[in-house]
Amino acid sequence: MLILSIETSCDETAVAVTRNGREVLADEIYSQADMHALYGGVVPELASRNHIAVIGRLSDMALEKAGITRKQIDAVAVTFAPGLIGALLVGVSFAKGLALALEVPLIPVHHIRGHIAANYIAYPELEPPFLSLIVSGGNSLIADVRGYTDIRIIGSSRDDAAGECFDKVARVLGLPYPGGKPLDELSRGGDDTAFKLPRSKIDGYPYDMSFSGLKTAVVNIVHNAEQKGETLDTSSLAASFAYAVSDTLIPRTMEAARELSYNKIAIAGGVAANSRIRADFEKAAAAESKTLYIPPLSLCGDNGAMIGCQAYYEYLVDCRAGMALNAFATMDVDSSISTTLSFESFK
Ligand code: KG4
Repeated sequence: MLILSIETSCDETAVAVTRNGREVLADEIYSQADMHALYGGVVPELASRNHIAVIGRLSDMALEKAGITRKQIDAVAVTFAPGLIGALLVGVSFAKGLALALEVPLIPVHHIRGHIAANYIAYPELEPPFLSLIVSGGNSLIADVRGYTDIRIIGSSRDDAAGECFDKVARVLGLPYPGGKPLDELSRGGDDTAFKLPRSKIDGYPYDMSFSGLKTAVVNIVHNAEQKGETLDTSSLAASFAYAVSDTLIPRTMEAARELSYNKIAIAGGVAANSRIRADFEKAAAAESKTLYIPPLSLCGDNGAMIGCQAYYEYLVDCRAGMALNAFATMDVDSSISTTLSFESFK
């Protein structure tokens, strides 16, 4: 089954062609990050307009790369939630038009389910059930992945997402947007014990997280140094920060895996690209003889292939959208998509 999949939830326009879920024939991504860097963060209206400008050409490029024609597409998939509403609507409208014209099914995909599915592409042997940590620019979630479409969230951030915290800390240190990668680079070689930074704990909710206190602590250190005219060891501050994030994410994830008796742990989302978090997870998993799955850097951030992969499994459980499909800025990952939205059947 050949699926053309579209992802426009934030500032990446992405179109992929996948075969039977796990084989990627093309994965085209156009990142708008340089444009948004001018403003220090994503400007939603500009994101929507740029998706419109490139999505048609990007989908032609994906077909060319996959070596197929439009007529060979068996289904069109699209991220419909969660994300920036205007940005999502561009992808949803384009996907509806394509599915209608080609008379093929339209498959709605939840963005976070897509991030988890990036692991199925990277690890052909991986099958649910397993525990997953999804850490991106907008979400920090610990999920019990019972089946491909049966996912329960057991922990989440109460405020900033981990990626958002990386971006805000990077900004105060004068690094460009998106700040996760440059902050990661700055932290290498720094002393991770130089600054004592807080780790949140929420009474009664062992798997929930909070990152705003950590962000504020770093911002205060930077502002105090500026006011006193002191030079900061920014590399050590970045290393101490990365350690604090890693020390927030990893013990919770390992505890959840123990509690649910999972031996498989899959990490996903843009922050899964972080070198400190990857290294610490490898050590923690090895210490408990658990198998760790972390996608290559190319599949950690937003991409179309992960949407095509998840779409295949949604299709197998009869999840289809009609022309009434809408986009949603927020939606729980564990909602049963077909029952929640009661889409009209299209094909
Ligand atoms: O998954 P993603 O591409 O988009 C969302 O769905 O949100 O994640 C983007 C986030 C940004 O906050 C970015 O700064 C962060 O992932 N990120 C990183 C690294 N690379 C990207 N954070 C920490 N270390 C990295 N190496």
